[in-house]
Amino acid sequence: MMLKKTILGAVAFLAVTLSGGAVQAAGEYTETYQQDWSFSGVFGTYDENQLRRGFQVYREVCSSCHGLDFIAFRNLSDAGGPHYSEDQVRALAAEYTIADETADGGEREGIPADRWPEPFPSDQIARDANGGALPPDLSLIAKARGISQPFPWWVFNYFTAYQEAGADYVYNLLTRYEEAPEGFEVPPGQYYNEYYSGHLIAMAPPLSDGIVSYDDETTPETVDQYSRDLAAFFQWTADPHMVSRKTMGFRVIIFLIGFAVLMYIVKRRIWRDAH
Ligand code: HEC
Repeated sequence: MMLKKTILGAVAFLAVTLSGGAVQAAGEYTETYQQDWSFSGVFGTYDENQLRRGFQVYREVCSSCHGLDFIAFRNLSDAGGPHYSEDQVRALAAEYTIADETADGGEREGIPADRWPEPFPSDQIARDANGGALPPDLSLIAKARGISQPFPWWVFNYFTAYQEAGADYVYNLLTRYEEAPEGFEVPPGQYYNEYYSGHLIAMAPPLSDGIVSYDDETTPETVDQYSRDLAAFFQWTADPHMVSRKTMGFRVIIFLIGFAVLMYIVKRRIWRDAH
């Protein structure tokens, strides 16, 4: 009786899930082009050079509208992150003017301990400058956004330890500005983006080929490359301790395996003479 119920339950569950997947696939679902990331998988780490390039593009293009509240200048010298030298960070911070009531004239040069400066003095001023839309802070954007996938693809993510949905989202958003399809009304101040939910976004395409020049001449200066570097950078700002967490996780698993073996031997010893 019990078994029959369980089987019936499992069949019903599968039927609902499968049909749900089919409906989703037929409806508003937009495919995500998933990228290869250096930080994917159990042993993945950030690519220091890629983070530096991402930071450069953020600084030159995005920082005029988007803040990075949770990042202080000094974080840019963290190992496992962009890893700039302390002198570079000090020089970078000094290029910015920071509002400080205790300083002469209410302003002073930036120091490494300062947070990344806000692009606008208030949300209202930010909205007024952007046709009513608020450019969100990007420090945690890679955590705040993810991708949707139809059944059964999302099931595989549990087995492959997929955690790069935020980076994949940012990459797809930035690379999929397109001409609106025939008959699709695009109101003034809005732009057609194939990937954005509802396809209308109040951010003009921020990138174009060649807009930022990289020091390293072998890296392509294309929208595709900029977007991938930015996505990696925002993954780091959202999860700066990923590398140490993965290392610790690996050590813990090794410890637990060793501990399990030890406990097994102990158990055999203690029960050796029991009949
Ligand atoms: C001129 C101002 C401006 C610039 C420059 C700009 N953005 Fe935006 N961005 C906006 C606005 C406004 C929104 C809000 C759009 C909306 O709500 O429709 C936005 C939204 C976003 C979002 C959030 C999308 C979502 O899922 O909600 C991301 C991510 C983003 N921008 C990334 C970037 C990146 C990366 C750059 C630099 C390459 C950049 N932006 C440059 C104005 C800007």
